[in-house]
Amino acid sequence: MIAKIDQLLQEVETITASNAEELEALRIKYLSKKGAINELMADFRTVPAEQKKEVGMKLNTLKTKAQEKIAALKEQFESQDNGCEGIDLTRTAYPMELGTRHPLTIVKNEIIDIFSRLGFCIAEGPEVEDDLHVFTKLNFAADHPARDMQDTFFVESNEDDVTKNIILRTHTSSVQVRAMDFSKPPIRILCPGRVYRNEAISYRAHCFFHQIEGLYIDKNVSFTDLKQVLLLFAKEMFGEETKIRLRPSYFPFTEPSAEMDISCNICGGKGCNFCKHTGWVEILGCGMVDPNVLEASGIDSKIYSGYAFGMGVERITNLKYQVKDLRMFSENDTRFLKEFENAY
Ligand code: PHE
Repeated sequence: MIAKIDQLLQEVETITASNAEELEALRIKYLSKKGAINELMADFRTVPAEQKKEVGMKLNTLKTKAQEKIAALKEQFESQDNGCEGIDLTRTAYPMELGTRHPLTIVKNEIIDIFSRLGFCIAEGPEVEDDLHVFTKLNFAADHPARDMQDTFFVESNEDDVTKNIILRTHTSSVQVRAMDFSKPPIRILCPGRVYRNEAISYRAHCFFHQIEGLYIDKNVSFTDLKQVLLLFAKEMFGEETKIRLRPSYFPFTEPSAEMDISCNICGGKGCNFCKHTGWVEILGCGMVDPNVLEASGIDSKIYSGYAFGMGVERITNLKYQVKDLRMFSENDTRFLKEFENAY
């Protein structure tokens, strides 16, 4: 018995393991219920009484040595551990959730695509603008209500000179002004972007939304050109059977001005709740660029004329997808966004 214990003591002294599995095998071999040391313990009964003390002490030493050695080896692995311990590297990865395009982006791209086929290029400008580009050069009278606090977010207001007020742009027509300031006709641009208006947030209004405005300036541009381009747009966007109608309207920067309706794409013009039983829904504002606007940017209004139009991307998206609550567009609710997974 003593010889057996001494042999095991020597063995335990020299054990090594190069990975956790080997170490576990050693633990089972020496320290488990059916391991070598427990077997010796079981045989302890047969040891003659006079040897019991010596054998008992040796057995205890062996057990402690084995436990210490295995604990030391374990610690060695753990200190080498590079953070992967406990991570099952063979396990398959979590399913990666692919994001989806935002409905406003889908519709914006669709609108851009239609107009780019007609030769429009994209122009962009700052969202934080000055009064000069948002109002003054667009022929807004100094006391025009749109300049009022109710509509406009002011970043810096300048009491001596309102044209120096710094504001959040209320429409992307400001980008058109910048384009007219910096380039010579022909100009054919599309200005997509976010705009801000100081309105109470509800299911049908928000303090920011998205617009796409268009501008075309050249020699002999007429209202007929505008109407034809908008008819083509409506048919491409809402279907070949779509009709348009133009109603006279007013904008400071266009003369004449109009608002455009399309035949309701939900009931096909027969009348439904969406179109308030009129068969028509308004989608954009448009008109011929006011000569004052051309002149303010150094374009000779006797040689050149132009048209402009502007639409809200949220409105067009609502018409296409009947989103009842405008706030859904900015809440990032993935259940809502997921509905557009197959929309492009
Ligand atoms: N800028 C106008 C708006 O924000 C839209 C518009 C653009 C109307 C161009 C006419 C011509 O409401």
